[in-house]
Amino acid sequence: MILYVNACPRGDSRTDRLARALLGRLGGEREELRLSDAGLVPLSEERLEQRTALIEARRYDDPMFALARQFQRAEEIVVAAPYWDLSFPAILKLYVENIYVSGLVSEYTAEGIPHGLCRAKKLWYVTTAGGPYQPDFSYGYWQSLAQQFFGIPETELIAVGMLDVEGFDSEALLAAKIEEIRNGVCS
Ligand SMILES: Cc1cc2nc3c(=O)[nH]c(=O)nc-3n(C[C@H](O)[C@H](O)[C@H](O)COP(=O)(O)O)c2cc1C
Repeated sequence: MILYVNACPRGDSRTDRLARALLGRLGGEREELRLSDAGLVPLSEERLEQRTALIEARRYDDPMFALARQFQRAEEIVVAAPYWDLSFPAILKLYVENIYVSGLVSEYTAEGIPHGLCRAKKLWYVTTAGGPYQPDFSYGYWQSLAQQFFGIPETELIAVGMLDVEGFDSEALLAAKIEEIRNGVCS
Protein backbone atom coordinates (compact mmCIF):
# COMPACT_ATOMS: atom_id res chain seq x y z
CA MET A 1 0.00 0.00 0.00
CA ILE A 2 1.23 3.49 -0.88
CA LEU A 3 0.34 6.09 1.74
CA TYR A 4 -0.28 9.59 0.43
CA VAL A 5 0.06 12.12 3.26
CA ASN A 6 -1.60 15.18 1.78
CA ALA A 7 -0.56 18.24 3.81
CA CYS A 8 -1.65 20.76 1.18
CA PRO A 9 -4.29 23.09 2.70
CA ARG A 10 -5.31 24.73 -0.60
CA GLY A 11 -7.85 22.95 -2.79
CA ASP A 12 -6.05 24.21 -5.90
CA SER A 13 -2.63 23.17 -4.59
CA ARG A 14 0.29 23.02 -7.00
CA THR A 15 2.16 20.73 -4.63
CA ASP A 16 -0.75 18.30 -4.74
CA ARG A 17 -0.63 18.37 -8.56
CA LEU A 18 3.01 17.23 -8.49
CA ALA A 19 2.23 14.56 -5.91
CA ARG A 20 -0.62 13.19 -8.02
CA ALA A 21 1.67 12.95 -11.04
CA LEU A 22 4.06 10.90 -8.90
CA LEU A 23 1.27 8.71 -7.50
CA GLY A 24 0.05 8.10 -11.05
CA ARG A 25 3.49 6.86 -11.99
CA LEU A 26 3.93 4.70 -8.90
CA GLY A 27 0.54 3.00 -9.44
CA GLY A 28 -0.68 0.30 -7.05
CA GLU A 29 -3.03 0.38 -4.11
CA ARG A 30 -3.17 3.73 -2.33
CA GLU A 31 -4.51 5.24 0.87
CA GLU A 32 -4.83 9.03 0.93
CA LEU A 33 -4.76 10.89 4.21
CA ARG A 34 -5.82 14.50 3.78
CA LEU A 35 -4.50 16.08 6.94
CA SER A 36 -7.00 18.93 7.00
CA ASP A 37 -9.78 16.29 7.30
CA ALA A 38 -7.97 14.07 9.81
CA GLY A 39 -9.08 15.83 13.00
CA LEU A 40 -5.53 16.18 14.32
CA VAL A 41 -5.07 17.89 17.68
CA PRO A 42 -1.88 18.84 19.54
CA LEU A 43 -0.63 16.64 22.35
CA SER A 44 -2.04 18.28 25.48
CA GLU A 45 -0.91 17.17 28.95
CA GLU A 46 -3.98 14.95 29.20
CA ARG A 47 -3.39 13.30 25.81
CA LEU A 48 0.29 12.85 26.60
CA GLU A 49 -0.55 11.02 29.82
CA GLN A 50 -3.06 8.86 27.98
CA ARG A 51 -0.50 8.11 25.28
CA THR A 52 2.25 7.24 27.75
CA ALA A 53 -0.07 4.88 29.64
CA LEU A 54 -1.08 3.12 26.42
CA ILE A 55 2.56 2.75 25.32
CA GLU A 56 3.57 1.38 28.72
CA ALA A 57 0.75 -1.15 28.50
CA ARG A 58 1.78 -1.91 24.89
CA ARG A 59 -1.80 -1.18 23.77
CA TYR A 60 -0.79 -0.34 20.23
CA ASP A 61 -4.19 -1.38 18.92
CA ASP A 62 -5.82 1.63 20.61
CA PRO A 63 -7.67 4.04 18.22
CA MET A 64 -5.25 6.78 19.36
CA PHE A 65 -2.54 5.03 17.31
CA ALA A 66 -4.54 4.40 14.12
CA LEU A 67 -2.50 6.88 12.06
CA ALA A 68 0.78 5.53 13.46
CA ARG A 69 -0.25 1.98 12.49
CA GLN A 70 -1.16 3.15 8.99
CA PHE A 71 2.23 4.87 8.63
CA GLN A 72 4.06 1.84 9.99
CA ARG A 73 2.49 -0.62 7.58
CA ALA A 74 2.74 1.49 4.39
CA GLU A 75 5.11 0.07 1.78
CA GLU A 76 5.90 3.45 0.26
CA ILE A 77 5.07 6.94 1.50
CA VAL A 78 4.49 10.19 -0.37
CA VAL A 79 4.41 13.33 1.79
CA ALA A 80 3.25 16.47 -0.03
CA ALA A 81 3.43 19.87 1.64
CA PRO A 82 3.90 23.42 0.38
CA TYR A 83 6.94 25.36 1.55
CA TRP A 84 5.72 27.62 4.34
CA ASP A 85 7.98 29.84 6.45
CA LEU A 86 11.12 27.88 5.50
CA SER A 87 9.33 24.67 6.49
CA PHE A 88 5.82 23.27 6.02
CA PRO A 89 2.28 23.86 7.36
CA ALA A 90 1.92 23.23 11.11
CA ILE A 91 -0.61 20.48 10.50
CA LEU A 92 2.20 18.29 9.19
CA LYS A 93 4.07 18.66 12.51
CA LEU A 94 0.85 17.66 14.27
CA TYR A 95 0.83 14.57 12.10
CA VAL A 96 4.40 13.73 13.15
CA GLU A 97 3.38 14.09 16.82
CA ASN A 98 0.54 11.68 16.20
CA ILE A 99 2.49 9.00 14.34
CA TYR A 100 5.77 9.08 16.25
CA VAL A 101 4.86 6.35 18.73
CA SER A 102 7.69 4.53 20.45
CA GLY A 103 7.38 0.79 20.01
CA LEU A 104 5.31 1.19 16.83
CA VAL A 105 7.29 3.23 14.30
CA SER A 106 10.57 3.44 16.22
CA GLU A 107 12.26 2.04 19.30
CA TYR A 108 15.56 2.38 21.13
CA THR A 109 18.00 -0.48 21.46
CA ALA A 110 19.47 -1.37 24.85
CA GLU A 111 22.44 0.80 23.82
CA GLY A 112 20.15 3.79 23.30
CA ILE A 113 20.38 3.76 19.54
CA PRO A 114 17.20 4.48 17.56
CA HIS A 115 15.91 1.56 15.53
CA GLY A 116 13.15 2.06 12.97
CA LEU A 117 10.14 -0.25 12.78
CA CYS A 118 8.44 1.04 9.62
CA ARG A 119 7.90 -1.24 6.67
CA ALA A 120 8.37 1.38 3.92
CA LYS A 121 11.46 1.20 1.77
CA LYS A 122 11.09 4.72 0.42
CA LEU A 123 9.62 8.08 1.38
CA TRP A 124 9.09 10.84 -1.17
CA TYR A 125 8.81 14.47 -0.13
CA VAL A 126 7.01 16.70 -2.61
CA THR A 127 6.91 20.47 -2.28
CA THR A 128 6.58 23.76 -4.11
CA ALA A 129 7.91 27.16 -3.05
CA GLY A 130 7.09 30.74 -3.91
CA GLY A 131 10.77 31.67 -4.01
CA PRO A 132 14.03 29.72 -3.80
CA TYR A 133 13.58 26.41 -1.97
CA GLN A 134 15.92 25.49 0.91
CA PRO A 135 15.40 21.92 2.09
CA ASP A 136 16.90 22.17 5.61
CA PHE A 137 13.74 22.39 7.74
CA SER A 138 11.31 20.48 5.54
CA TYR A 139 12.79 17.74 3.38
CA GLY A 140 15.90 17.66 5.61
CA TYR A 141 13.73 17.09 8.68
CA TRP A 142 11.78 14.28 6.99
CA GLN A 143 14.96 12.71 5.71
CA SER A 144 16.35 12.56 9.27
CA LEU A 145 13.10 11.19 10.67
CA ALA A 146 12.82 8.54 7.96
CA GLN A 147 16.40 7.33 7.86
CA GLN A 148 17.56 7.77 11.45
CA PHE A 149 14.38 6.99 13.38
CA PHE A 150 11.72 5.27 11.27
CA GLY A 151 13.96 2.77 9.47
CA ILE A 152 12.99 3.98 5.98
CA PRO A 153 16.28 3.74 4.08
CA GLU A 154 15.58 5.79 0.97
CA THR A 155 14.15 9.27 0.62
CA GLU A 156 13.76 11.48 -2.42
CA LEU A 157 12.84 15.12 -2.88
CA ILE A 158 10.68 16.52 -5.66
CA ALA A 159 10.62 20.31 -5.45
CA VAL A 160 9.80 23.27 -7.66
CA GLY A 161 10.62 26.78 -6.51
CA MET A 162 10.17 30.35 -7.78
CA LEU A 163 6.47 29.86 -8.47
CA ASP A 164 5.43 33.23 -7.03
CA VAL A 165 8.28 35.35 -8.36
CA GLU A 166 7.40 37.84 -11.08
CA GLY A 167 8.96 36.95 -14.40
CA PHE A 168 8.92 33.21 -13.73
CA ASP A 169 6.38 31.14 -15.65
CA SER A 170 4.95 29.00 -12.86
CA GLU A 171 2.80 26.88 -15.17
CA ALA A 172 5.81 26.08 -17.37
CA LEU A 173 7.95 25.21 -14.34
CA LEU A 174 5.27 22.88 -13.02
CA ALA A 175 4.64 21.28 -16.41
CA ALA A 176 8.37 20.59 -16.84
CA LYS A 177 8.57 18.90 -13.43
CA ILE A 178 5.43 16.84 -14.10
CA GLU A 179 6.99 15.70 -17.36
CA GLU A 180 10.17 14.68 -15.49
CA ILE A 181 8.11 12.75 -12.96
CA ARG A 182 6.12 10.95 -15.67
CA ASN A 183 9.32 10.04 -17.50
CA GLY A 184 10.88 8.69 -14.34
CA VAL A 185 13.67 11.29 -14.23
CA CYS A 186 12.77 11.63 -10.55
CA SER A 187 13.89 8.03 -10.03
C1 LIG B 1 1.58 30.85 4.91
C2 LIG B 1 2.55 30.81 3.74
C3 LIG B 1 3.90 30.83 3.95
C4 LIG B 1 4.81 30.80 2.88
N1 LIG B 1 6.15 30.83 3.13
C5 LIG B 1 7.01 30.80 2.08
C6 LIG B 1 8.42 30.81 2.31
O1 LIG B 1 8.91 30.86 3.44
N2 LIG B 1 9.24 30.79 1.23
C7 LIG B 1 8.76 30.71 -0.05
O2 LIG B 1 9.55 30.65 -0.98
N3 LIG B 1 7.43 30.69 -0.29
C8 LIG B 1 6.55 30.71 0.74
N4 LIG B 1 5.19 30.68 0.50
C9 LIG B 1 4.70 30.51 -0.90
C10 LIG B 1 4.38 29.03 -1.17
O3 LIG B 1 5.47 28.20 -0.88
C11 LIG B 1 4.01 28.80 -2.63
O4 LIG B 1 2.98 29.67 -3.04
C12 LIG B 1 3.64 27.35 -2.88
O5 LIG B 1 3.72 27.03 -4.24
C13 LIG B 1 2.24 27.04 -2.36
O6 LIG B 1 1.94 25.70 -2.65
P1 LIG B 1 0.46 25.20 -2.99
O7 LIG B 1 0.08 25.73 -4.35
O8 LIG B 1 0.60 23.72 -2.98
O9 LIG B 1 -0.44 25.71 -1.91
C14 LIG B 1 4.30 30.72 1.55
C15 LIG B 1 2.91 30.70 1.34
C16 LIG B 1 2.03 30.75 2.41
C17 LIG B 1 0.53 30.72 2.16
